[in-house]
Amino acid sequence: MSNGKRILLIIAGGIAAFKSLDLIRRLRERGFGVTPVLTPAAEQFVTPLSASALAASKVYRDLFDLTDEAEMGHIELSRAADLLVVAPATADLMAKMAHGHASDLASTLLMATDKPVLIAPAMNVRMWEHPATRRNLRLLQEDGILSVGPVEGAMACGEFGFGRMAEVPEIVAAVEAALSAGPLTGRHVLVTSGPTHEPIDPVRYIANRSSGAQGTAIAAALLALGARVSFVTGPASVPPPPGAEVIRVETARQMREAVFAALPADAAVCAAAVADWHVANAAGRKMKKDGSGRAPAFELAENPDILAELSRLETGRPGLVVGFAAETDDVVANATAKRARKGCDWIVANDVSEGSGVMGGTENEVTLITAEGAEAWPRLGKGEVARLLAERIAARIG
Ligand code: C5P
Repeated sequence: MSNGKRILLIIAGGIAAFKSLDLIRRLRERGFGVTPVLTPAAEQFVTPLSASALAASKVYRDLFDLTDEAEMGHIELSRAADLLVVAPATADLMAKMAHGHASDLASTLLMATDKPVLIAPAMNVRMWEHPATRRNLRLLQEDGILSVGPVEGAMACGEFGFGRMAEVPEIVAAVEAALSAGPLTGRHVLVTSGPTHEPIDPVRYIANRSSGAQGTAIAAALLALGARVSFVTGPASVPPPPGAEVIRVETARQMREAVFAALPADAAVCAAAVADWHVANAAGRKMKKDGSGRAPAFELAENPDILAELSRLETGRPGLVVGFAAETDDVVANATAKRARKGCDWIVANDVSEGSGVMGGTENEVTLITAEGAEAWPRLGKGEVARLLAERIAARIG
């Protein structure tokens, strides 16, 4: 039974291409129409005939196929689908996409499309970890390209590590998520995340232990509900969520600039662990011991309070402003006082005392403080906390 959605499935040349035939079957089972595109290298792994038979569709293979241009031009082909899926996405095709090449049918379709694109990378672990691939992935994420996988495991080349293409059910789930119109479709949400780094001199800085995991999970949950997300992140240790507009900053002052530049927004979630102070007398050159035995004295100056400033905006205040309170004692009392002091609508309070395992961990136990009072949530994975919070946000502004 058709669900009315069409997928243009670009199969690039890698050993994982054999899984793409199964992907065609599973997508069709879920009601998607599939039009396959095979690169010349992909044809070394799977045949156009099998792709065509499984998709019950014509297979597109060559940019200069004049018959195809007469039937359907490549521009039209790139836009007739609701979503472009690249599986497997090879290192080579990712590089072409990141740098805007349009040198063959696959890369031209990816350049010409006005539809969302989902990639399922697959390559040797060394190629996946190569700085060039990391850089290309970052560029693609910044362009709003969605991705699924790769996963860790044994590879056809005999090595073990990250690089295996995501399994077919995972790719199908990512396709469905990419095409679902959620309650936050058409809404813009700003999320701050990660720590800030405050320079002491050109090589040293003051930081904190925030990994950015909770902010990233919240942004991903908001994206899954259809929101457009501006993700302003300090130097976090987890990668930003695919599909967000990522704005990377280092200091609290840069974060403030980026946040105000990203307005207007329907909601703002300030999950960043912003440093309270910066070093006012940061050195322009690397500081050195002078042999006197005296340690340098830092003069600290207060950083802008982004959450408080956003909350008190007279014009252009986001309809809902959510802050976080990481507390080590009297969590509810301190967070309730913080909500009033900052002027935000909600505070998500959590206990980060030693032994709670929250900072840098995978779980979180939060209390949501609103105008109505305090609501304690059970201990949950950070992804689950994010999902519940995103649903609450959707109920309020969706
Ligand atoms: O004041 P405190 O750091 O405890 O408050 C935490 C909340 O305030 C978090 O939501 C954090 O993102 C935000 N905050 C901010 N700018 C600062 C300090 C904190 O936006 N300079």
